[in-house]
Amino acid sequence: MERFARIAGWGRYLPAQVVANRDLEGRLDTSDEWIFSRTGIRERRIAAPEETASSMGLAAARGALAMAGVHPQELDLIIVATCSAERVFPACASLIQHGLGARTVGAFDVNAACSGFVYALSAGHQFIASGLHRTVLVVGSEVFSRLLDWDDRATCVLFGDGAGAVVLQASEEPGGIRSCVLGSDGSGADALYVPGICASPLEAQRNGHHFLAMNGPQVFKFAVRTVAEATRQAAWQAGILPEEIDLFIPHQANARIISAAAEALGLSQEKVFTNVERYGNTSAASIPIALSEAAEAGRLRDGDRVALVGVGGGLSWAAMVLEWGPGAPSYNPE
Ligand code: UT7
Repeated sequence: MERFARIAGWGRYLPAQVVANRDLEGRLDTSDEWIFSRTGIRERRIAAPEETASSMGLAAARGALAMAGVHPQELDLIIVATCSAERVFPACASLIQHGLGARTVGAFDVNAACSGFVYALSAGHQFIASGLHRTVLVVGSEVFSRLLDWDDRATCVLFGDGAGAVVLQASEEPGGIRSCVLGSDGSGADALYVPGICASPLEAQRNGHHFLAMNGPQVFKFAVRTVAEATRQAAWQAGILPEEIDLFIPHQANARIISAAAEALGLSQEKVFTNVERYGNTSAASIPIALSEAAEAGRLRDGDRVALVGVGGGLSWAAMVLEWGPGAPSYNPE
């Protein structure tokens, strides 16, 4: 019997501290006008010292489980997309598993930078479609504020912290995830990266730190082209035309990238969800945060065809089309 994977619950966590563009004007040679006109960002959230990728992911996961009416002990697998976890190992997924009080099921992290959440969701989908698992938690959580050089105006203004999560459940009814497109081009590895703590000493000498480095214009061009192309492929795989997408939820890096890609796909503004203005680029957390806000805002109705697409470090990309609904059970906070 064919198994379908549908999103049964969603949640998000944003740190309380808001840092507006104007707050950065005082300490950097930048302006609210420059940041907003180039990126669409007005403010971002910054994690408190005690907050980490696992603590924020845990909070988002609890919300998603409560929404789905799923007890942590019912989970068969936990996948976390992150590249800013507090430990190189164990996986952030293991920390979240323990925090939830889940069974000793499989738990692993996915590192595909800003494409990570859609990669993780694709993996969760495969475990369900194969019949191996029925209930999978997929989390995206990032603390990029700790990967940034706060004296580098070209990068630090772009990112923020946060987490989002979904519960994927097996269903015998057709629906849920209908296509997955994954891609990576390692020849672009130098365009966007963070040196690792295990980098060769020669690499460490070159960079001298562990801050994010980016070739902005190169990544911009790659992103505009790839968001549209990967979405087209995901729509084709799902048997629909790009213009038949009801809601487009792209990675939230830059409002200009999003509107250029939407235009290339023939999607009107009403079909595009953006919240980059309030959170900046939260990497692997951006799509599940946006998805949960879109659902809560009533932007998703049963039967809607939703396209998710992430692009980023790798250079990597991941896109999928899913059919929304049937809706999650009524909210049931524990
Ligand atoms: O998930 C993927 C992650 N990354 C991205 O999505 C980033 C993709 N790239 C971008 O979004 C854009 O390339 C940026 C927003 C990063 C930059 O926009 P741009 O229009 O490509 O600007 P630019 O890099 O060509 O820089 C233009 C000017 C430069 O000054 P000069 O050389 O023309 O005098 C920069 O020094 O803007 C300057 N600049 C700034 N000025 C004020 C760079 N950052 C800032 C800043 N405030 N924060």
